[in-house]
Amino acid sequence: MYRKELYVFDGERTVPAVIRNYEERDFPDLIRIQQESFPPPFPSELWWNEEQLINHVTLFPQGALCIEINGEVAGSMTGLLVDFDPKHPDHSWKEMTDNGYIRNHNSDGNTLYVVDIGVRPAYRKWGLGKWLMFSMYDVVVHLRLERLLGGGRMPGYYKYENNMSPEQYIDAVVKGEINDPVISFLLHCGRSPVKVVMNYLDDEESCNYGTLMEWKNPFNKLVK
Ligand SMILES: CC(C)(COP(=O)(O)OP(=O)(O)OC[C@H]1O[C@@H](n2cnc3c(N)ncnc32)[C@H](O)[C@@H]1OP(=O)(O)O)[C@@H](O)C(=O)NCCC(=O)NCCS
Repeated sequence: MYRKELYVFDGERTVPAVIRNYEERDFPDLIRIQQESFPPPFPSELWWNEEQLINHVTLFPQGALCIEINGEVAGSMTGLLVDFDPKHPDHSWKEMTDNGYIRNHNSDGNTLYVVDIGVRPAYRKWGLGKWLMFSMYDVVVHLRLERLLGGGRMPGYYKYENNMSPEQYIDAVVKGEINDPVISFLLHCGRSPVKVVMNYLDDEESCNYGTLMEWKNPFNKLVK
């Protein structure tokens, strides 16, 4: 199981933090993080329920991570293993994650697929999201997987929908001409775009598009 102790920075101030696997006792905190991270117009039926969380901690506990600040759970990240074929990249969030229930978790899969990441608004821009992502990269390396993959929401796209295709929007975000709250964050974490997918998620702000973004295991050729 995973445990990492470190200091994070709130401006100049250092604050002790712990990254660890989440457990049943954390469920109320995790549900609160989701409510704060995905406010309307994001559909509330996509917030975690207890049955999904039980599946996360039983089917693939290595992929259930949270970060604690002074004993308070401030963010979480969840994944499952899937067999991904880069020649057939199209899928929806619902298909790939079993609608968040991860009953399709495949322990022989080649890819760690991200179900969700969220940090409480009060703790944003402290580097917690990046630490969670880097910790999930540790899991990818430890399990000798090929990649981490996930579909990033693109919640700034609705402002450009009439002038740009989603691909043009992502190109502009990659060039740094436009800032997107999720895609720019994923780029800062070292993830690279693979493909824009239509009807990825029921998400008004992203006009239902998502961008598949991957991080490849740098040891991949050595471990194969
Ligand atoms: C996306 C999210 C997890 C980021 O968490 P966070 O802890 O604030 O991010 P971090 O502080 O670790 O930021 C890491 C890097 O991304 C950048 N970043 C973070 N938020 C950003 C934003 N809104 N716009 C541009 N860049 C951003 C930071 O500047 C930082 O860059 P650096 O490493 O070069 O210093 C958080 O904003 C969130 O929970 N959003 C709502 C839920 C959501 O949409 N999740 C994604 C689902 S696909």
